[in-house]
Amino acid sequence: MSDKIVLGIESSCDETGVGIVRLAGDGGMTLLADQVASSVDQHARFGGVVPEVASRAHLEAMVPTMERALDESGLSLSNVDAIAVTCGPGLAGALLVGVSAAKAYAAALDVPLYGVNHLAGHVAADTLQHGPLPPECLALLVSGGHTQLLKVEDLAGKITEVGSTIDDAAGEAYDKVARIIGLPYPGGPPIDKAARQGDPNAIKFPRGLTGPRDPKFDFSFSGLKTAVARWVEAREAEGKPIPVEDVCASFQESVADVLTAKAVRAAKELGIGTLVISGGVAANSRLSELARERCDQAGIELRVPRPRLCTDNGAMIAAVGAHVVAAGVRPSSLELPTDPGLPV
Ligand code: KG4
Ligand code: ZN
Repeated sequence: MSDKIVLGIESSCDETGVGIVRLAGDGGMTLLADQVASSVDQHARFGGVVPEVASRAHLEAMVPTMERALDESGLSLSNVDAIAVTCGPGLAGALLVGVSAAKAYAAALDVPLYGVNHLAGHVAADTLQHGPLPPECLALLVSGGHTQLLKVEDLAGKITEVGSTIDDAAGEAYDKVARIIGLPYPGGPPIDKAARQGDPNAIKFPRGLTGPRDPKFDFSFSGLKTAVARWVEAREAEGKPIPVEDVCASFQESVADVLTAKAVRAAKELGIGTLVISGGVAANSRLSELARERCDQAGIELRVPRPRLCTDNGAMIAAVGAHVVAAGVRPSSLELPTDPGLPV
């Protein structure tokens, strides 16, 4: 097979992403462009992503982001051999913008179109930095929208969910707790920063679903968020100041403890030797530190892509596209539907 240029489009949430990957004949991949336009600032005052605002922002950003990605790669549209696009899961209106754009480009260029899963994209992002995955690995996806443990056997097809959150996603818990203690949206970065000055053992917050009878690999963060809210309310009722750094450090310790304990336990019980952590929360300093410690102890290889590849982007979608092209999967039709609830 000669080299193929695969372009990826991402628009499932609040990031408009266009990435370009060169797939070599031997299956090797090179990242040529990764352009992202975020509407996060437009959502900040609402404390969460507003779907209508996100869709409109995608519409405005799609063509300029495409142009910037082509500029960065030094290629033109006529060089593109295939187009991959996130068709789910995600926000319905937001997905529709990316999928419509992908169909228009694929039809105009007469190249194959591939609808791909956003979650597979988060895992594939790691291959752009660390190379091919081993035949079997476990992925912990932690973002504002997802918290899942996935057994990955083939990025072009065989991915199985082994655990997931039963309520809030980990990033959502960060965002809600930030709101409770008066920190800005998105809450992950300011909590991470404040936590560095605090004592992680100052307040004993609950560890969701870690009892002996609880599901082994599922997560729950809404009880933790409520516990933080109650603790803060009680403190305010006593007229005492809120020790923001200690609250952040103690909350963060609970999240990192549960995520890493369950991921390592799953890897051990399933006999999997590699753990990939991806998604916006993978940028968390305590999560990666504790994961490193526990993976080292258990003899598990840990792979965490750089923050830019962890958050939503088009490069990760181009990477799944390249895997799918290399595997010879049949392209999607131009009727490709979006599916906001698409499972892995
Ligand atoms: O993957 P992402 O950019 O978007 C999706 O939700 O798909 O993840 C965003 C989430 C937000 O909830 C944000 O608060 C969280 O990732 N986040 C972090 C950190 N940086 C971003 N959470 C904890 N620590 C961080 N350093
Ligand atoms: Zn995502």
